[in-house]
Amino acid sequence: MEENKKEIILDPWGYSSIEDYDKLFTLFGIRPFKEVIHYFENPSILMKRGIVFGHRDFDVVLRAFKEGKKVTLLTGFMPSGKLHFGHKALFDQIIYYQKQGFHINLALADIEAYSVRKVERKETIRLAIEEYVANAIALGLEKKNLRIYFQSATKPAYYRLIQMFSQKVTMAEMTAIYGDLTPGKIVSVFTQAADILHPMLEEFGGYDYVFVPVGADQDPHIRFTRDISDRFSSELGFRRPASTYHRFMTGLDGGKMSSSRPESAIFLSDPPEIVVKKLNNALTGGRATIEEQKRLGGEPLKCAIYEMYLYHLMPNDKDLLDIFMRCRRGELLCGEDKKLAIEKTLKFLDDHRKKLEQAKDVAESYIEEIPKF
Ligand code: TRP
Repeated sequence: MEENKKEIILDPWGYSSIEDYDKLFTLFGIRPFKEVIHYFENPSILMKRGIVFGHRDFDVVLRAFKEGKKVTLLTGFMPSGKLHFGHKALFDQIIYYQKQGFHINLALADIEAYSVRKVERKETIRLAIEEYVANAIALGLEKKNLRIYFQSATKPAYYRLIQMFSQKVTMAEMTAIYGDLTPGKIVSVFTQAADILHPMLEEFGGYDYVFVPVGADQDPHIRFTRDISDRFSSELGFRRPASTYHRFMTGLDGGKMSSSRPESAIFLSDPPEIVVKKLNNALTGGRATIEEQKRLGGEPLKCAIYEMYLYHLMPNDKDLLDIFMRCRRGELLCGEDKKLAIEKTLKFLDDHRKKLEQAKDVAESYIEEIPKF
């Protein structure tokens, strides 16, 4: 067991890819999402397809929601680059939960971007508004039941939490969770804990429960925040936040999808000719020769194109299964398959681009307050 533990490192600031998600259940106590999917009448495709794969205490929150308790989703984005299809998977979840009637709280993590990625303040603020908020609106986020705030521009009680939290944690505890720390990382850790817990304060809505959908790399923050929550349960009336975890998309080149390697991702703002080029170059689950592919069949589970269908382009389960089977049987070859993916991606992006232009004009009006510098 101890041996195993060394193989997986969750690093919220790194670029580690997580090879074996099942290990997260045994090593870190994350529970399978399958357990809670029955709470939803119409689970989203990301839930049904196992992309949202894990949770902590989400059953508690869903039960409370059914009983009419006040529940909010809270999650955050560090504005450090352009938005790609990997980010879209989180937006899709947020929009799904909003449609189910959950209140939504979104943190624009400008303090974190400044502290750990060294992005210039002005650029962070611009990216947050024009990339993150505008894209979220274009994808379907609505103004009702929604609060979007910058970490650096909200009410004083939020900052008071950061100060209070820092009093109840030791350096040894932090090092045990995060390894090497810098002052900037410490600031962003406490800030993220304040993000997650502040909606339970009266002046931020007094929510009974908070749940946090995140990528699995964020679990250290979740564990840390749940501990802090326990320590302030009597003083501030906090309840442990719940969380859900989703898988990351694989990059088009087989590595991690990341804005720092433009060839690994399709950005929501990529022009058509770039999309065509990137998809044509994408790594597939195809074999070395056509003869081999016809004989052995392709490997959709190793294919970046199939992942685009799975996450984004093929909401209909029957269509998806059909592609999967035809690929496995060697009937569908990569060239034809890429053509279809290109067609679907271009259609989606064409429509999205129009919505995005309109969304940019109104994005600021969705945000609580814009920091001046
Ligand atoms: N750290 C997150 C990221 O790197 C962003 C974030 C900030 C966040 N505050 C949060 C995520 C609160 C979940 C909850 O993307």
